[in-house]
Amino acid sequence: MKRSHLALGIIAIAACRSAVIATSAAPEIAPRVAAHFPAGWHLPSGAQASFAEHAIVSSNDSIASRVGRDIIRRGGNAVDAAVATGFALAVTYPIAGNIGGGGFMVIRMADGRSAAIDYREVAPLAASRDMYLDAKGDLTDKSVIGHLAVGVPGAVAGMNEALKKYGTMSLRDVIAPAIELAEKGFVVDSSLSRGLTRYQKDIGKFSGGSKFFPNGQVIAPGSRFVQSELAWTLKQIAERGPDGFYRGPVADTLVAEMKRGGGIITLADLARYKPEWRKPVLGTYRGHTIVAMPPASSGGITMMETLNILETYDTPAPYGSTLWAHRLAESYQRSFLDRNNKLGDPAFVAVPQDELTSKAYARQLRAKIDDRVHSPTSTLVAKREGTHTTHYSVVDAQGNAVATTTTLNNSYGSAVWVRGGGFFLNDEMDDFAAKPGSPNMFGLVQGEQNAIVPGKRMLSAMTPTIVLDPKGSVLLVVGGAGGPTIITGTSQVILNVIDYRMSLADAMRAPRVHHQSLPDSLTFERGGLSQPVLDSLRAMGHQLRPIGSLVNINAIMRVKGGWEGVSEPRASGGAVGY
Ligand code: DON
Repeated sequence: MKRSHLALGIIAIAACRSAVIATSAAPEIAPRVAAHFPAGWHLPSGAQASFAEHAIVSSNDSIASRVGRDIIRRGGNAVDAAVATGFALAVTYPIAGNIGGGGFMVIRMADGRSAAIDYREVAPLAASRDMYLDAKGDLTDKSVIGHLAVGVPGAVAGMNEALKKYGTMSLRDVIAPAIELAEKGFVVDSSLSRGLTRYQKDIGKFSGGSKFFPNGQVIAPGSRFVQSELAWTLKQIAERGPDGFYRGPVADTLVAEMKRGGGIITLADLARYKPEWRKPVLGTYRGHTIVAMPPASSGGITMMETLNILETYDTPAPYGSTLWAHRLAESYQRSFLDRNNKLGDPAFVAVPQDELTSKAYARQLRAKIDDRVHSPTSTLVAKREGTHTTHYSVVDAQGNAVATTTTLNNSYGSAVWVRGGGFFLNDEMDDFAAKPGSPNMFGLVQGEQNAIVPGKRMLSAMTPTIVLDPKGSVLLVVGGAGGPTIITGTSQVILNVIDYRMSLADAMRAPRVHHQSLPDSLTFERGGLSQPVLDSLRAMGHQLRPIGSLVNINAIMRVKGGWEGVSEPRASGGAVGY
């Protein structure tokens, strides 16, 4: 399959954001403990985070973080800032920031209300179960690149809905900075230029070629990049709300683009798109409360199932040890097995959420984990049923917190850029099981519950999460990009903070591991596990798979006197506060 993201390292360089403001009455944070990483690890511990007394936004693009921070400074709350940041990312971070994709937002208001909004893309009405199979029944690359890969975008409707219910500012006000950035341009950095160079061949096949590669050359770092088509689209949204995107001239450009390349999204698909408010997954881990995203994302359930298994061990295994990596792998392996076989869009399949997130179920799973030997996935499957993303988190001075993850799926999505509209479209259709039982771009082997049906949401792994301390105050706002590695990476940052009492900077720089049941391998960041640990894991039956980097996380943590923000040390970005 083309553009495979089996190389999780590539996926990992996606985006995430966060913003926070301090609350003076917040309880003390347990003291942090210095972290020690293996000698060969390239991100030494002891780095500094960005500190802000009042508010901070952590994302993959510092211009967009600044936009969010400024909105809070002007009196907006965390939701206003999150939406402003989201629209700014659509301009300055086109690899993943988007209006042509979808996402999930978890909100925790200072008054104790928690909410989750699902603005995941849906399969177009003309989609069909086998639309990505060739005459022989084999998978094609059409779920990954080109017009047929596109799900009906949810980003504009979702951000607007979140703003309406929990924000304080108008859509026009929060979208204004993005319009200005598109209209006046911004200075291209080497990260944007590098990303475009990497995907030049794919983007060049469609309408975006002349925009991003004038005269065949990638827009150079240091040059000013103006996007007048995108400014026009954003103004339509500012003036008419979601109708400015889903009906009328912008919708017409999107549908015209579909027709240009054999896509199937129609005006009717756009007109019927609706975001869904969901009840967040609420769980506990060693006295902390976890507020996370339910389906159509698998993120909250899968992470909670894993944390519940790990909580059954009275004492966490020493960080970086063989036992640490082994227990993580065995726990992830079991919760991903459930994820891949039991989760899907709740409007189409019954999701056993209560069972999967119960402590009793975790104890049953834990009983079958042997601390001495790996259980091959093939022995667990008996009862089979049935990169590019960006996360940002926000907390404001009142103590409202927002964790948002949004994606086009691949870097630049389907690579299809809407001529006249000025934005990339997702390739989210690949998150369905295009052929149940066969791996998708991320190597996820998923079942019938995630098969393609018109109007259905494809299962996601996005894991925007808010962690409350034992007294109920916001402690962490976290989430990431990287397909299935989002779940493992996000949970490891949480574990590093709670179990190993690392500073946020260390928790983010700490080496990560990943297991997703199939392929049955323990993926680790090169240099992140010591040789003796690797040797003993191999002896226990783990198939070890080194990779450059795993997951792209942006997080915020409450500290004494304010907040710390850290954007992914393995990628570009910035945490900006005041
Ligand atoms: O929703 C999902 O799980 C995927 N579409 C996320 C893709 C992703 O994170 C790619 N990023 N680097």
